[in-house]
Amino acid sequence: MSNGRSFYITTPIYYPSDLPHIGHGYTSVAVDTLARWHRQAGDDTWMLTGTDEHGQKMLRAAAANGVTPQEWVDKLVTQSWFPLLDTLGVANDDFIRTTQARHEERVQQFVQALFDRGYIYAGEYEALYCVGCEEFKPEAEIVDGTGAFEGLKVCAIHSKPLELLQEKNYFFKLSEFGDRLLELYKTVPDFVRPDSARNEVVSFVKSGLKDLSISRSAFDWGIRVPWDDSHVIYVWVDALLNYATAVGYGTDPEQFARRWPAYHVVGKDILRFHAVIWPAMLMAAGLDVPRGVFAHGWLLVGGEKMSKSKLTGIAPNEITDVFGSDAYRFYFLSAIAFGQDGSFSWEDLSARYQAELANGFGNLASRTIAMIERYFEGIVPPAGHELTDVDRAVQTVVAQAAADADAEMERFRIDEAIGAIWRIVDELNGYITVNEPWALAKDDAQRERLGTVLYTAAEGLRALTVLLSPVMPVATEKLWVALGAAESLGRLQDQPLREAGAWGVLRPGTNVNGLSPLFPRVEQA
Ligand code: MSP
Repeated sequence: MSNGRSFYITTPIYYPSDLPHIGHGYTSVAVDTLARWHRQAGDDTWMLTGTDEHGQKMLRAAAANGVTPQEWVDKLVTQSWFPLLDTLGVANDDFIRTTQARHEERVQQFVQALFDRGYIYAGEYEALYCVGCEEFKPEAEIVDGTGAFEGLKVCAIHSKPLELLQEKNYFFKLSEFGDRLLELYKTVPDFVRPDSARNEVVSFVKSGLKDLSISRSAFDWGIRVPWDDSHVIYVWVDALLNYATAVGYGTDPEQFARRWPAYHVVGKDILRFHAVIWPAMLMAAGLDVPRGVFAHGWLLVGGEKMSKSKLTGIAPNEITDVFGSDAYRFYFLSAIAFGQDGSFSWEDLSARYQAELANGFGNLASRTIAMIERYFEGIVPPAGHELTDVDRAVQTVVAQAAADADAEMERFRIDEAIGAIWRIVDELNGYITVNEPWALAKDDAQRERLGTVLYTAAEGLRALTVLLSPVMPVATEKLWVALGAAESLGRLQDQPLREAGAWGVLRPGTNVNGLSPLFPRVEQA
């Protein structure tokens, strides 16, 4: 089914120092939805996610729990991070762990290549380091501590004290890449999206780049520097390389050529690593830079970035246990403009679940199927020969919504794409209200008109099901079966997405099947 167009998309690899929260889940469902969309559109799609397992943060978490770092990451990854994918309905193609040999060996090879090309040198370093960010902090992100940390310098993101580190390090000549990076942002204007993120990156690079410390010698939980085993490779250099090592860098040139370059979706807190350091590393190695970097905003709880370390972390299954994985995906992806911050609240989630999913989409599906069962013995009727303006309006809305949704997904604006698709929900609900099939059913002379109305509703629902399947794979699968489409048209995931807006796909004569509520009423504690 592939059209030969490669679409390789990644999530950041997560720190398994702690349990996943809904902020991590947000990044993953966004990337999964984009990947499902492209896969179903026939693009040669590959979705990668994984875990970032080295560094000081991990070492400390393990020590605090009295186990080795390897034991700690093995436990967290298998007990919490793998299951998260199931909890959220994520269909990734691969999962990379930075402690895997396939990664470690290739990272050494890459760093050696930079060394051989003259981009790495040894130097002295003294600076303030944040273990939460795993980063030497620039001036602008250092603030004065308050409360228990009064008198100390703290990280602006984590509000925790910074540590003064003084070491002999190896450095990457990042400062040499400023002009080439600025040229990249100019010639590929959507290399960094959205615009706010692009502007931030451009002004950061314009203000001048410093060389980057890429090794540490004070601890050994990391990948050894190949020419000096008293150092381990800086965890961010190790981590960024996952995007290349997972698709065959250094081992499988064919796979690498097929997949690379990637699109990276990241939270805005880690934008600079992806839009500045990573492309510079690739340029230094003589490899293609990524296709693009999209930075999404933060989930805020009580006005602050939600995080475990600030005790505002909410586990994804607290939401999915009550509302289901589809509602999780729909809520975060539709309620927050992708690229901006958004506040999470249980009230907002509940209200949207009820209004948009249960009453809007769910109810439309149930009553359409129920009316076909009641008035046509469960068999989708043909549309009559005479179409009215309202019937044609539905067809136009469906075609336009499908085209707009694809264009928005292409721009990574998942929220706008869902907004476009939702025009079909509203149109069909309005159509049923105006045409009153229950009244038509009382008059034998209106039998053909009743068929037209219910065919139009069912066919609109067919398009809606296909378009929503990347966002809500569980509910749409149920609906696909209920529409009888699984039997007559084949698997939902095989329905070509870019043709979803065509009319007349669902065949009259198809047998519908009973549908239990897609979004049942929830009882909240
Ligand atoms: N390990 C690094 C990434 C390395 S990628 C080569 C890392 N890991 S993380 O676990 O801290 O964060 C992973 C992702 O989760 C980031 O995209 C981050 O922005 C996202 N989120 C963490 N907290 C978040 C919110 N409160 N809201 C939205 N996304 C958040 O950084």
